[in-house]
Amino acid sequence: MQIDIITALPGLIEGFFAHSIVKRAREGGKVSVNIIDLRDYGIGKSRQIDDYAFGGGAGMVMMIEPLVNCIEDLKSKADYDEIIYMTPDGDVFDQRTANKLSLSGNIMIICGHYKGIDERVREKYITKEISIGDYVLSGGEIPAAVITDAIIRLIPGAMNDETSALTDSFQDSLLAPPVYTRPAEYKGLKVPEILLSGNFKKIEDWRTEKAIERTKERRPDLWKKTL
Ligand code: ADE
Repeated sequence: MQIDIITALPGLIEGFFAHSIVKRAREGGKVSVNIIDLRDYGIGKSRQIDDYAFGGGAGMVMMIEPLVNCIEDLKSKADYDEIIYMTPDGDVFDQRTANKLSLSGNIMIICGHYKGIDERVREKYITKEISIGDYVLSGGEIPAAVITDAIIRLIPGAMNDETSALTDSFQDSLLAPPVYTRPAEYKGLKVPEILLSGNFKKIEDWRTEKAIERTKERRPDLWKKTL
């Protein structure tokens, strides 16, 4: 899988992709993440990528020409299943979308900045618009990093323990149950007896029960969806 991220601020996310699971997945050849500097496609000597909004108003708009040149250049080298634009007015990202996207071939992600990108780019190229929540960040870079992380950890072999991603919160529309590690007792605080029993059937039942309890209590909206 190839994930190509177009950004005006590559430095903002390069560090993120140089670490942890994403780094391991990249090194293991499971996925290649490329960060493309939109300025390389900027106009003129100053490599301009944004301009004033027609009709006036505060804030700059990312220009059509550098974006089209960049998108077309990438498209000439690879086929993309999705061209995603990160924007607060997109569909709100969730685990189901992450699961679906993890099954894709190649994905292109465009990070918005300033007031956003020229609407004509959205109309002509974008196949999916994604928001990571109902709040406005100063750019699409962090949202792009968020969805890329959520997608990559679902690719088989990307994580140390492959079953681990399947038991994450939300995978079965339930929050994850509580977890414990050694010591079994710390200053009088004890781990639930059942987890030390070695009875895996009972442990599984206990975990399901706790996951349901937690979901009902903390996310009744999610619980309603599972009924
Ligand atoms: N860009 C700015 N805010 C955003 C958000 N909430 N989700 C996706 N992209 C964004």
